[in-house]
Amino acid sequence: MAFPDGFLWGGSSSASQIEGGWDLDGRAPSILDVKKLNPGCCSFHYSSDFYHHYKEDIALMAEMGFKAFRMSISWSRVIPAGEGEVNQAGIDFYKDVFAECHKYGIEPVVTIYHFDLPLALREKYHTWQDRRMADAYVEYCRVLFENYRDDVKYWLTYNEQNMLIYFCAADMNGTGVTDLKSVYDEAHVQLWAQARAIKLCHEMCPDSKIGPAPNITTTLPATASPEDYLAALNNDDLRNNFYLDALCWGRYPKSTIAWLEHQGVELDIREGEMEMMASCHPDFIGFNCYANDTVEHIGWIEQDLSSLVGADNSKMSYLMALMEKPGIGRAIVNEYRPKAPSDGHPFDPWCIRITARRLTDRYGLPVLITENGYGRPDTLEEDGTVHDQYRIEHLRETIRQMEIGISEGADIMGYCAWSAVDLVSTREGCTKRYGFVYVDRTEDDEAMRNAPMKRYRKDSFYWYQKVIESNGADLD
Ligand code: BG6
Repeated sequence: MAFPDGFLWGGSSSASQIEGGWDLDGRAPSILDVKKLNPGCCSFHYSSDFYHHYKEDIALMAEMGFKAFRMSISWSRVIPAGEGEVNQAGIDFYKDVFAECHKYGIEPVVTIYHFDLPLALREKYHTWQDRRMADAYVEYCRVLFENYRDDVKYWLTYNEQNMLIYFCAADMNGTGVTDLKSVYDEAHVQLWAQARAIKLCHEMCPDSKIGPAPNITTTLPATASPEDYLAALNNDDLRNNFYLDALCWGRYPKSTIAWLEHQGVELDIREGEMEMMASCHPDFIGFNCYANDTVEHIGWIEQDLSSLVGADNSKMSYLMALMEKPGIGRAIVNEYRPKAPSDGHPFDPWCIRITARRLTDRYGLPVLITENGYGRPDTLEEDGTVHDQYRIEHLRETIRQMEIGISEGADIMGYCAWSAVDLVSTREGCTKRYGFVYVDRTEDDEAMRNAPMKRYRKDSFYWYQKVIESNGADLD
């Protein structure tokens, strides 16, 4: 068994979580810069200061042998008000980043939008139900395609749109409770906007490829009961297929439409929008995949989520509560998952194998793993080493299963682990780490303003280097 030639081994990041420089050189705030933080967590203002360290970071990625670096562009760095005037300093920054990647033969895989809506747009249009938000997004795409058509071969339209909708947290503030009609109307407009972006990319950048980047998993039934099986099918339609069916086929799964109708929701779909989706034809499917879900059937239970408004969303109980879908199912802990020998933490090595096979068959498109990883609080030893054996154990088993998946027919183009370099978690500050490179920083924002944020290679850095060098043959 082997990985295909040209397999895109790499790592991922997002602008707000790695860049810092939140108020530098004309950048305006995004909604994440004013987000209510969970107790004890740092903001996204300084992150890992990639803004000043990008040359060093990309050199470290090159040392690991990266073929691809998945990153995102900060919309409010390039267009501070979200629409209108373009900030040349922002355009130049990413030009420099792309040039640095190409210097080492690293292909930038660029997410156009990763959670960080320009604050000015939210203040002006409030939600994506206002179609002017979609117009602003498409114009932002036009600016990117015009400026970077020679620098970027792989574009991703939108990170994890489906999770924001599934968790009803479209504004990233973890309010948890929004009416279903508004949330799914937003989802539809966001999909229509992505379809327009895909078409525009094909027109403006004929040498580039573009696809979405949702978080896609496969739902397993809790038991062999037919009702649990149906819950799993319905959950897959709601959580996963709704988004990819729209962009690949121009239609929504019937079970999801029926589920919405049962709750009195009819989507606000306007003339030509489904046709736009049906005709956009993404070139590949990028998807983030950490763990499959397991659900048991539940009926139309009463749900009271009001206590979640403004709550600490780093708690697992918060996420589990939002995963409970009356009329569909409730998430349960899957006991078949192995535990990493080093720290006893459960993980799911099968998620990519199973889901990539499913997507290859369902859509007939190549897939790119845009995120998968293991977030743990690493320890920097006095001698500058970081022994993250648990991360190696997770990656080894996941890559092993991915390789089997490829031999079974999954058409996987590449694997970008989350994350290339340590960055700030969306819910748990910088204490939970994911990178191959340790960034020396704490949760103390003020202390980080001008901190050196020195970089250290973790044990997983050297392990991943061997994996890439052997094109996945050496996983020991
Ligand atoms: C994905 C996101 O959901 O998971 C990333 O695309 C995020 O932005 C990653 O960082 C890990 O989740 P968390 O909550 O630890 O940041």
